[in-house]
Parts: sequence; structure tokens; C-alpha cells
Amino acid sequence: MDSTLDRARANAAKKALEHVLEAEVIGVGTGSTVEKFIEVLSSRREELRDKLFVASSIDTMVKLKRAGFKVLHTSTIEQIDVYIDGADEVDRELNMIKGGGAALTMEKLLTFFSRKRVFIVDYTKLVKNLCEKHPIPIDVLPEAVLMVYNYLDSRGYNPVIRYSVRGKYGPVVSDVGGVIIDIKPRLFNPAELERELKSIPGVIETGLFIGLADRVIVGYEDRVEELIK
Ligand code: 5RP
Repeated sequence: MDSTLDRARANAAKKALEHVLEAEVIGVGTGSTVEKFIEVLSSRREELRDKLFVASSIDTMVKLKRAGFKVLHTSTIEQIDVYIDGADEVDRELNMIKGGGAALTMEKLLTFFSRKRVFIVDYTKLVKNLCEKHPIPIDVLPEAVLMVYNYLDSRGYNPVIRYSVRGKYGPVVSDVGGVIIDIKPRLFNPAELERELKSIPGVIETGLFIGLADRVIVGYEDRVEELIK
């Protein structure tokens, strides 16, 4: 990866550490920026030894366990003190698109049930309007994939079933067993679109995160900027 971006992500990840020091139960998202955050956690392993972690994906669970942390299964969790995650796009109102790594369903679950939600991104993730660079992922029940696809197509949302590029033949299957459909609607109101998508039977979850971030830490090569709700 471009070393400027790498440094920007690392700076955002370092800044996030201060939000977990007082927490008992820490939720951790998925992706390359989160990977930087896990590196930061690892560098403070002794201090964080008694913390309990809950992971938004198999990938993050494996990385946290390999780094020597205690990871609880999500089903045993009632409340998360703080959640740290990345994002694909963030607008100035802190609405976000997530799910580039197909972990959107667990990520939204952990975000919603956390007392404090902090997102870490590099500066390239800031956009004026959502869907500028990234499509919106939708996690769909496999049994409903064609019906949901056809509905989204009829609405003019330009759906594309996400295919695996390596290691698996066929569609990407999410950690909760869904098929990912990416959509690229033209002009839309994020909150209204979210309501519509969530009303479609067969849609497990969407990658639109509306009003769910308390704080976004934006990393640059040499500094961070904090956007607060
Ligand atoms: C995974 C996500 C990630 O947080 C998002 O894709 C950002 O990833 P990265 O930090 O690698 O750019 O939503 O489902």
C-alpha cells in the first residue's frame, strides 16, 4: 500500500487507543485500518491484558486471538463499552458506507449496541455525498438473492452480485452466510434509502450507517482530524 495512506491509517489507529483504555468490553471492526488498530493494541498488550474483546468478523477474531487477547462470542455479549471500526466512505454528517470487507451485518450489530462508536479512516474516505466512490453493500439471504436483485434492478439501483476474485468460485458469502449485492443508486437520501432497503424481505442488513458514529478520526500523513457528532 501507498506509504502515505499507510501512515494516515496508522495515525488514526493510534489516536483511537485513548477511547479504549477505560473500557471493559471492546468491539472491534474489520479491515486494513482496523488491522493497524490491532497492531496498536498489541504494542500495549500488558496494559490491555484484562480487557474483553468482541470481533465483527472471523478475520478480526483470529487477529485478536493471535495477538493474545481474550475474545468473547457475540452471543454472550449484552453491552459493549466502545466499538472501533473503519469505513469505506464518511460524509460531513458522519453518515457512512461500510461493508467493503463484507462484514457489514456484524459491524452494524456491534455498532448499534455499543455505548460509544469511534470510526478510524484515512483522509481518502471523506466524501461530500455517500456513494461517490463506493457502492452500498447489502447482505442478502441466499434464498432471496435473485428476487432481491430483480427488485433492486427495477428500482434503478444498479445492483451487482459481489464475486470472489480469488480462493472461492462464485459469490462472496458474508460471515453470517449472506450473499453481498452492491448497489449504486444515482441520487438518493441516505436515511430514506436505508428505510426502503430494510423493508425488503430477504435483506439481512445494509452497509448504510446513518447516525451511528459518535466520532470519526480521520488520519492524514502527519496528523489526525476528529469529527464529532
Ligand atoms: C468491512 C468494512 C471496513 O471497515 C471498510 O471496508 C474499510 O476497510 P479498510 O480500513 O480496509 O479501508 O466495513 O466490512
